[in-house]
Amino acid sequence: KRHLISAADLTRDDALLILDTADEMAKISERSIKKLPTLRGRTVVNLFFEDSTRTRISFEAAAKRLSADVINFSAKGSSVSKGESLKDTALTLEAMGADAVVIRHGASGAPHRLAGWVRGSVVNAGDGTHEHPTQAVLDAFTMRRRLGPLEGRRVTIVGDVLHSRVARSNVLLLATLGAQVTLVAPPTLFPVNVDTWPCEVSYDLDGVLPKSDVVMMLRVQRERMNAAFFPTEREYSRRYGLDRDRVAKMPDHAIVMHPGPMNRGMEIAAEVADSARSTIVEQVANGVTARMAVLYLLLSGADLGGEK
Ligand code: CP
Repeated sequence: KRHLISAADLTRDDALLILDTADEMAKISERSIKKLPTLRGRTVVNLFFEDSTRTRISFEAAAKRLSADVINFSAKGSSVSKGESLKDTALTLEAMGADAVVIRHGASGAPHRLAGWVRGSVVNAGDGTHEHPTQAVLDAFTMRRRLGPLEGRRVTIVGDVLHSRVARSNVLLLATLGAQVTLVAPPTLFPVNVDTWPCEVSYDLDGVLPKSDVVMMLRVQRERMNAAFFPTEREYSRRYGLDRDRVAKMPDHAIVMHPGPMNRGMEIAAEVADSARSTIVEQVANGVTARMAVLYLLLSGADLGGEK
């Protein structure tokens, strides 16, 4: 059994294999080949208990481009609203013959539990405030395409680290790939154990920007936040928002990233999000390619680490 539940499950060789496979997938797409027969006859279930635009659609597109059958399940409108548990939902999908289950869930650890109940591969598409490993893969893929190998590259991740599964997965994967990560956030928006993460921590965004090859802005997740934690929107934007003046402090080659969805005008100015340095739209396109690579490697039997 092979799953992708945490970025920490990936060795450097695993991570490079995914990125190299994604490169191959991108080359195939650039040759206008829309569909590969690789996963014909396999079934991928998208099991989404939390809202998603990019991740759900890109997993669906990725599976379809590999010729897999796709079943989309969203908790809204399902028997989850009648109180059916994750385990019973999983066993129902198992009975329908899922070869891979892509799960997004509000509870950290839900994909790990699911992996104990189904025979197919489990791919974590975001669990609570824990991890979002395929976002980290597509982000690393985007950085590598723009900047070349990631060893020694300086990546600054800014914002609501406390609630960000994207930040945690990125820190873990980028450290594995040899990049130097610095997290910048208001003191109330760092996790208490951030000193155990393989990265630097700073409160001084303006001091870090000139030394950054990549500046990744995080969404302020107000829906997960107690109002007491949060500075006013204006104050947040003034101290931690990426606007034109701050972008001017970055090296000329440096890129701006955001996993989406964005709060335009808050953590990132609209003109920065839409600028030539921004890879935000590219990240979405790369998400399909990166997820094709993950599904292909998991379902074709390559060992990607993770729980066996
Ligand atoms: N980046 C990301 O996970 O976006 P969605 O919530 O739209 O899937």
